[in-house]
Amino acid sequence: MTSKIARAPDNIARKTLSVRHRLIRTLAPQFYKEAVLAISTVNLMPRAAILYIKEVMNGKKLCGAEIGVAAGVHAEDIMTMLNMKKLYLIDPYEPYVEVGRLHTDYLADKQKAALRLKRFGDKVECIYQSSDRAATLIPNDLDFVYIDGNHTYEYVKNDIETYYPKITDNGVLSGHDFGRAYNGDVVRAVVEFVSKHNLKLEIGSGADWFLQKGLFNDARALEPFSILQGLPRIERA
Ligand SMILES: C[S@@+](CC[C@H](N)C(=O)[O-])C[C@H]1O[C@@H](n2cnc3c(N)ncnc32)[C@H](O)[C@@H]1O
Repeated sequence: MTSKIARAPDNIARKTLSVRHRLIRTLAPQFYKEAVLAISTVNLMPRAAILYIKEVMNGKKLCGAEIGVAAGVHAEDIMTMLNMKKLYLIDPYEPYVEVGRLHTDYLADKQKAALRLKRFGDKVECIYQSSDRAATLIPNDLDFVYIDGNHTYEYVKNDIETYYPKITDNGVLSGHDFGRAYNGDVVRAVVEFVSKHNLKLEIGSGADWFLQKGLFNDARALEPFSILQGLPRIERA
């Protein structure tokens, strides 16, 4: 199921998604608001971490968290594909600097996420805080955490170190953008952590990385630079 190379069709679908949305929004604004955002779609190409969590959790009712929610597209995939009891969605929706780039375009995303996820009721809980602050507000028995907030090395490292202890034994720690984007900061933070703890790392479609607590690597320690060299140059959709 998993591969060392992020697959192109997934990337193309994501790249054209905003164009398709813009077209519908222009041609039929009311339809877009009511149908596309509120009812929305089931993603036909979900990211690998979701598929992995689905497989290893085997139908169990899950409690999980996503760090970095933006417009809630991936959160919706989680809610529709997994058997969720509770999903904590962590995003401060504030300006932030990421690998030297300032992001200020957060308010529209906050509204889109609220609209998109409304139908899941109190199964979804939005925490409008940065991931370090939010950690104290959510339980310590999470079945999975998906990390996709600030992709700067120090932030990814901190998210991994803060949230790994918050997942249960056999729980899944996962995240997005394992690749050359963001200067390879995600790869460095992830690989350093799995090497230090000798954990088994998996990489799958959609540039996802994931590991299961308690599953150890039996091969030699990984080395971030050689992994980066082997990855295709795929920019964020
Ligand atoms: C790439 S987007 C997330 C996309 C989303 N996971 C998806 O796939 O649909 C990154 C988000 O991380 C949020 N963010 C930035 N810094 C953060 C932090 N310290 N803690 C939590 N979220 C953060 C940003 O506001 C932004 O909405």
